[in-house]
This record gives sequence, structure tokens and C-alpha cells, in this order.
Amino acid sequence: MKIGNLELGDRPLLLAPMEDVTNPPFRLLCKQYGADLTYTEFISADALIRDVNRTVKKLTILAEERPVAIQIYGKEVDSMTQAAIIAEQANPEFIDLNFGCPVRKVATKGAGAGLLQNTPLMLDIIESVSKAVKLPVSVKTRLGWDAENKIIVELAEQIQDRGAAALTIHGRTRCQMYKGEADWTLIGEVKNNQRMTIPIIGNGDICDPIAAENAFNKYGVDAVMIGRASIGKPWVFEEIKHYFKTGELLSPKTVRQQVEMIDDQVRKACEWIDEKRGILHMRRHMANMFKCLYNFKQTRIDMLRANTMEELEEVFQRIIETWGDE
Ligand SMILES: Cc1cc2nc3c(=O)[nH]c(=O)nc-3n(C[C@H](O)[C@H](O)[C@H](O)COP(=O)(O)O)c2cc1C
Repeated sequence: MKIGNLELGDRPLLLAPMEDVTNPPFRLLCKQYGADLTYTEFISADALIRDVNRTVKKLTILAEERPVAIQIYGKEVDSMTQAAIIAEQANPEFIDLNFGCPVRKVATKGAGAGLLQNTPLMLDIIESVSKAVKLPVSVKTRLGWDAENKIIVELAEQIQDRGAAALTIHGRTRCQMYKGEADWTLIGEVKNNQRMTIPIIGNGDICDPIAAENAFNKYGVDAVMIGRASIGKPWVFEEIKHYFKTGELLSPKTVRQQVEMIDDQVRKACEWIDEKRGILHMRRHMANMFKCLYNFKQTRIDMLRANTMEELEEVFQRIIETWGDE
């Protein structure tokens, strides 16, 4: 698959943009496990224009983690265009426009998935941004606002016509938020529409090799994007790639290997932000780990309550000593 001049190979696996998750250390880790492309978390166009420090930091891309796309969100043609010009200076591989975020504070204010209720404005933003920057511009959106308005098949053509270089579709409506199962049938319909020439990236509920294989074989998408399955399990990319290559499932990581991975990640997150917020940031990942360990309840509580690296190290040590070889 190619986005602009960026060659991503056959059946590429993409790490989804995720707020408070896809910072440089995590993106790099996922790349090391086989992700072919990663995205920044969504970045507010307005905050970028106001030069808010914390927002500007989100533009940082480490040389070794490339290729990376920067994702921005907003609700006006001018601010999205200006923000895209600022983002371009950070030199990502391309710029992604978020028209899929369902959360109330974004979508009901007319940004993110809110633009599924105002597609003329969405299309004007795509056209203006595509003309203003030299980099390719992609779009990430959902099937539609609600079950009665699954507009993606027709909208995809317009998104392409107005300048988008690729389209990611999350197989849910805004009203579904993250509930229910992702519906891939319309993603497949967009992909099989003869009018569509840009790459179609399928997204939603891909969490193992079989689901990924199905997405490529049954729906014909050009790439698969993975979000939640990578949280606490960044080696999901490795598992899928291994299966694609050999037809066999990779043996699961031992608890010791998992602890070594998360220990390293928490340290990097602390270096990236600071100790307190780095640990807070990694709780989401830790909460998704070690789910099947017998008698783990109290240790889980201790792990998720630790406030310092020292406390966390003690818990990690305990996990290795008690369950390390499982
Ligand atoms: C914690 C979290 C944060 C997210 N933040 C973003 C975001 O910043 N931009 C975006 O386009 N989607 C965001 N998403 C949606 C994901 O990119 C993805 O579309 C969704 O999780 C479905 O994919 P999955 O089933 O593989 O998780 C977020 C999802 C989660 C769970």
C-alpha cells in the first residue's frame, strides 16, 4: 500500500491514533513489534495555533520511529488549515484529519465525528488542508452519525474527490461510541466501490491474527489499523505478522517477558513526561495485562496504585518471583 510516496508494503498493520496512549515511546515500541505506521494522538488545531506548550510537544517525532502521521482535529476550515501548516513543519510522513472522535466535548461541539453531521464543512476542510500543505492528507472517520445515517459509502467518494490521499474507516457510528461490534460490511463496500482509488484502511475490533487475516481477505482493505488491542499488548503486531508469514500462532510471551516490557515502557514514559504522570499514563496499559494470573487480585491493586517507580519495581519483582515462568 502507498500513501502519497510512502510505501508501506503488503498487508500493512497500523497503530491507531489514541489520546494519551500513542506518544513517541509507545509508538516506537509498537514499531519494534512490527507496526508499519503509527499516528500521534489527536492534536487540537486551536491549541496548536495558540502555541500551547503541551500541545506543541505532541508534534515531536523521533527519527527512529518513522513513519509517523500527525493527526489534528478541529471544526473550522481556517483553523484546521493553519494547524496543518504548523504540523507540516514537524515533518511527519503525512497529516491525518480526525472526523471520528465521538466524545461529547469534541463531537457535540462540531469537531471530530461531529463533522459527520456537517459533511459540506468536512469536505471544505479536506480540500483546504490538502491544497495548503505539500504532504499527503488522509482522513479518519466512522460509518456515519447513527444507525439511520450510515453515509460512508457516498461520503468516501466525496472525501477522495476533495483531495484525501487515504481513508481510514472505523466500523462504528458516532452514536455507538465504542460499544457493540464493529461492522465491516460497509468498509468492504467502500473498498469494492470501483470509483475508489485511494487506499482504504479498515479499523475496529482487530485484536488477533485471525481477525486481521479476515479483514484483508474478506473485506479487501489495503491496511488494518489496530487500537485497543495494542494497549498492554504491543506485540499484537508481531503475532499477526508472524501468522501471516508462517500460518502459525506465535507462542505467548511469558509473564517475565511481559514484565520486562512494561517496566521498560513505564521508565520511558516517565522520562518522556515525568515520574508521576508517566506512571499514571501507563496504568491503562498495566490494567490490560496479567488478566489470567491466578491469585493476582491484590498484586493488581498494588500495581495500579503505585505512585513511584520504586513502588512499581517492588510489584514487578513480586510478579516475576511468583508468576514469572507462566
Ligand atoms: C484511549 C483511546 C483514545 C483514542 N484516541 C483517538 C484519537 O486521538 N484519534 C482518533 O482518530 N481515534 C482515537 N481513538 C479511536 C481509535 O483510533 C480506534 O479508531 C478505535 O479504538 C477502534 O479501533 P480498535 O477496535 O482497534 O480499538 C481512541 C481510542 C481509544 C480507546
